[in-house]
Amino acid sequence: MSQSEKLLLQALAGKAGPRPPIWMMRQAGRFLPEYREVRATTSSFLEFCYTPEKAIEVTLQPIRRFGFDASIMFADILVIPDALGQKVAFEENVGPVLEPVGDGGAVARLSMDKLHEHLAPVYETLKGLSGALPSDVTLIGFAGAPWTVATYMVGGKGSPTQAAARLLAYREPETFQALIDLLVEATASYLIAQVEAGAEVLQLFDTWAGSLAPTEFEKWCVAPTKRIVEAVRAVHPDVPIIGFPKGVGSKAIGFLRATGVQGISVDTGTDMAWARQELSPLATVQGNLDPLALVAGGAALDRATDELLEGFAGKPYIFNLGHGIEKETPPDHVAQVVRRVQA
Ligand code: CP3
Repeated sequence: MSQSEKLLLQALAGKAGPRPPIWMMRQAGRFLPEYREVRATTSSFLEFCYTPEKAIEVTLQPIRRFGFDASIMFADILVIPDALGQKVAFEENVGPVLEPVGDGGAVARLSMDKLHEHLAPVYETLKGLSGALPSDVTLIGFAGAPWTVATYMVGGKGSPTQAAARLLAYREPETFQALIDLLVEATASYLIAQVEAGAEVLQLFDTWAGSLAPTEFEKWCVAPTKRIVEAVRAVHPDVPIIGFPKGVGSKAIGFLRATGVQGISVDTGTDMAWARQELSPLATVQGNLDPLALVAGGAALDRATDELLEGFAGKPYIFNLGHGIEKETPPDHVAQVVRRVQA
């Protein structure tokens, strides 16, 4: 199959193909027994991400099992703080734990010097995947958007409100801007290297964009994303980028106008009739099946799947979830959705 026939690339070029492509955020992960088996061979999650042989294997597992149309490389958004010299660990049943960056001195101690050396295993993973994937499957690279990565760097862990980062941004805007600037530069450079290693599409995860007030949303989500998109396009003008400013509602319109990304991933709360009307003219919409409908399965899952397929019939559209797969998800329910979308 030629590049231009891949369904995900067609959809991102604004073409409604014979059917929508389907992939799922967190399609590699703990809901799969074969993932848990490989994962159990390395205690440190970051070390696992930095072992190309294992990262390649778990990336391929959901492709083999379900036949998704796209494959997202296995890594994590927090490899960037790790590569900038911040201490990052993943603790079981807790999540990420970082040594918080709380002032200008801590920002100044971060450095891009060893960025690519540190991230070289991720590029090896992409190179391996490029050769290993079926010819009709698109390879997706990704990074966290600066705001979301900064919430973990400043807070030192995940939090429901991202209060630590929001407060630092109000109290010490120059310090926070310096952190965002560093993340813009590092992330753009990381994404450019991913394309050179074989990524055909890039997704920027801004999971916590929804906690920002409108003015701050412009400053910390829209502006940094725009700078990354411009930097990547300056080197690789043709690689499509999907934005995922989660939880931003109607602010997605301004986000698309300003950043010019080709795709927008929308969360489960988004009204898809509205998205079709307001977002589809600006970008290819991706989403937004409820991850809990996927856990539930049965007729409710078929109904939710059909609503999305019917709602976007005739439009360029990417079938996906509104957020990542939950670890309680029965794999058979994923297969049920893939069969229905690919029928
Ligand atoms: O299949 C894929 O989607 C690719 C791999 C991927 C992972 N994380 C693997 C992972 C991707 C794209 C991510 C993105 C990511 N990581 C985001 C943005 C998307 C989102 O989910 O909101 C965020 C915020 C993170 C940070 C992160 N990584 C957290 C908060 C956690 C702990 C919570 C949890 O689910 O355990 C992780 C760990 C993580 N990243 C796991 C996986 C499969 C589970 C860890 C394990 O297997 O031990």
